Order: sequence, then structure tokens, then C-alpha cells
Amino acid sequence: MLFQTPKHAFIALHGFLPPQQPSIPSSSQQKQIKMDKLLFPHVFSLALTFFFLPQMPLLQSLASPPDGYSRPPARNVIFTTHDRSDQEPQQVHISLAGSDHMRVTWITDDKHSKSIVEYGTQPGRYDAKATGEHTSYHYFFYSSGKIHHVKIGPLEPNTSYYYRCGGHGPEFSFKTPPATFPIEFAVVGDLGQTEWTKSTLAHVDSQDYDVFLLPGDLSYADSQQPLWDSFGRLVEPSASRRPWMVTEGNHEIEIFPIIYPHGFKPYNARWQMPYEESNSTSNLYYSFDVAGTHVIMLGSYTDFDCDSDQYKWLVSDLSGVDRQKTPWVVVLLHAPWYNTNTAHQGEGESMRNAMEVLLYKARVDVVFAGHVHAYERFTRIYDNMADPCGPVYITIGDGGNREGLALTFKKPSSPLSLYREPSFGHGRLRILDEKRAHWSWHRNNDSDSVVGDEVWLDSLSTSKACWGADHDGINNSSKDEL
Ligand SMILES: [Fe+2]
Repeated sequence: MLFQTPKHAFIALHGFLPPQQPSIPSSSQQKQIKMDKLLFPHVFSLALTFFFLPQMPLLQSLASPPDGYSRPPARNVIFTTHDRSDQEPQQVHISLAGSDHMRVTWITDDKHSKSIVEYGTQPGRYDAKATGEHTSYHYFFYSSGKIHHVKIGPLEPNTSYYYRCGGHGPEFSFKTPPATFPIEFAVVGDLGQTEWTKSTLAHVDSQDYDVFLLPGDLSYADSQQPLWDSFGRLVEPSASRRPWMVTEGNHEIEIFPIIYPHGFKPYNARWQMPYEESNSTSNLYYSFDVAGTHVIMLGSYTDFDCDSDQYKWLVSDLSGVDRQKTPWVVVLLHAPWYNTNTAHQGEGESMRNAMEVLLYKARVDVVFAGHVHAYERFTRIYDNMADPCGPVYITIGDGGNREGLALTFKKPSSPLSLYREPSFGHGRLRILDEKRAHWSWHRNNDSDSVVGDEVWLDSLSTSKACWGADHDGINNSSKDEL
């Protein structure tokens, strides 16, 4: 059976649009979804999904690409099995949770397992203990395990801690980030759980770093909840030893009309980020400070217009940034605002129109995005023009997803786009001090990691030209420096 496009194949198989549709249906669109689609037996649909999912790259390669680009065959999805007892923790990951604190998250099949973390600075010697909370969720016929979230601290910076979850099972360890520069971020978007994912994570872990940043699209579970568990197990070796800070992509939405109309149910239950610690009311956008860097995680798939909660929160968050304390300001979001790939053209445009001026006025240094499965680095931009006081825009949606790469870039290239390449890989932002940082992009060459692009960046906090009296406007003398 051949379908005109993968989307048509998916609709034919499931009776509803695939969850990885690039834009969220508006509430009015949701109401228009016909009941006959909803009545399609879901169990049958899931069974078909499991059978046909591995065939999707083949279907994609057979189908006529709707927007002019074709993707190479992706590598196989890895399903990581559960090999511990019901009482033992699985899917352990940590995340920064306010000043000097870390949130430890894990899942147990045993519903009676306690939400406690024992920890200390010596292996096997736990002189501190914290109790947290737990949650669980249902998604159609799937019931999650017990999801534990425990906040521990205060912790010393740049220190190794050893910890055990729930009083059972293996010991884990992590290192806290430094209190001051230098600090190194690993940046990986659209990670997925394929052989490419494994390769990318091996390359990330082959060199030390402090904090992992992920601008959306984690597990590609796409409503198949066991794939969230599999993803948690796959990333545990990395995510239990360094804080993983994530924001949502379109693959986290998992909306199902009427039954799960708001989306993000599995994502919010499993990947709790420090939104309360940063005065946000939603797990879909938040910020944190680490070693002289203010990192803002925005949500491409929740409201962002000027009357939205996210917009108001961003205004408030940016107004509280002290560039003496955090000279670097970095933003992550999923759908790129600047993109010369033929894939996902214009999908970040509404958000850019709403929020770009806020980031520009705040002199944000770098904006990372995912979504497009390729790497692209732009110059400093404001409102589609090179501007020395605007952020550097980087798309890094090439972590290893099962959909393959976005091979085709628009021609001719834009002068704003300085490097672009459709290869899997990851990035590293090493901030040396309040002025200088080094960005590098590392291509996956099978088992090797090769630097494909690198550049030195200067923080805008030290640019006198960008902090003149005409703060809101474009400084002409700065423009001359281009
Ligand atoms: Fe995406």
C-alpha cells in the first residue's frame, strides 16, 4: 500500500492526524475534528502504530515529499528494556531546581516505593536525606509507574555527590555545576532514541561538560507511552550524572481531541523543570541561573502572544536579569525563528513576531532552536537583518531522531546564514568568562565525533555600543562594525 505522503499514510492507519504535526490545532480547529475519527478503535490504532512505526522511514522514502526535500533512512529505534526489580529506580535523571538545589526524578513499578533520596559526597555514605513527591498518569490504556520527584540540597558547587533513590537499587553520582566561569553546556535538540541518539550521547559524554540543554523533542514517543519509559532508560547513564534541562517540542504535545485536549500530560509528569523556582506558572517555560549564565527555556507550543502568560512571564523574567551577576543570557525554544532549510519554513514566525523584540532589547546573546533536523548557525540578527546587538541564532535539531535529516537548504543561501549542514551531531557552548565563549558543533561521523563548525562569541553584556542611550533602537555606530 502506497500513500501520497507519510501524513496520508498515518491518517489512513490511525484515523487522526499524527501527533508530530508541526503546529498545535487551535481550539476551534479541535472542535471541528469529526466524531468518526474519534470513534476509530484506539487499541487497533496502537497495534497498527507498533507495526507500522518501524516502516515509517521506508514510507517516507517512498512518498513524494510535500515540500521539496527528502530525508535519508533514519537508524533504527532502540527499545531499552527494564532490567531492574519493581522496587528499584529506573529512568533516573536530574535537573537544576533553584539555587544550589537539584531535582532527582525516577520511576518505580512498585507503587509503595518511597520518594526519598539519600546522598553524600562519599560513595556509599549518605549523610543527607530528602523526601519529595510523586505522581503518575494514565494515557488511554497505559498506566505509568510511580514517578518520583525529590529536591535535594543545598549542594556545594563543582562537587561530586553520590545518591540512592527510594532506599533501593544502584548508587548513582553527579557533579554539580561550578559557581563561576568557566562552564560548559552540551546542546542537543530532537534527540529521539535511535542508533544515532546513542552515537550522539556517546560523543557528548566523551568529553566533560556541566549542564545538558535540550531545545525540545525528547523521546518521539508520539502517544506510545512505553517509548517514554524506553527513552528514560536510554538516557539514564547521561541524565543521572549531569543536569538535563529541557523544553518542549511538538513531539511532546500528545494531544488527543476531547480526551486529552491540553497536551503535554506525559512530558509534564516525567520532566518537571524548575518553573515554580523561576516564578512561572507552567512547566512549558521557565528559567534558571548557573555560573554567570541566565538560561531561558521558552515554549513554542503554548501561547506566546502579548496578552499570554508566557509573554508576561518573559517580560518579568528579563527585567530581573542582572548582567553583572549573569553576563550571559541564553534562550532555547523549539521551532526556529530563523531557518533557511526547506523543512518547517515559517513555523516559528508567529512567535518571532511576538517575542523577538523582547530578546533584542534584553541583549540576549544566543538563541538555540531545534525542530529542523539539521545544523545551522546565523550571524547576530534582529528583524531579519544583521544586527550586532541581536542574538546569534543556532538551529541544532540534529540529535538523532527516527525521522531522519532535513537535507535540503534553500538556494541561494542567505547572507545571514553562516554555516549550515544536514548531519547528526551535538553542540558545546563553553563560556570562559564574562566576555568570551567558544561554540562548537560536532558532527557524528559514525563512531567519531568531528568538529564541523566553531566560532568565538563575545557577550553583549560587555558591548558598550549595544547599551547606549538608544537602548531600544539600532545603534548606527554598532551597525558600522558589521
Ligand atoms: Fe520538532
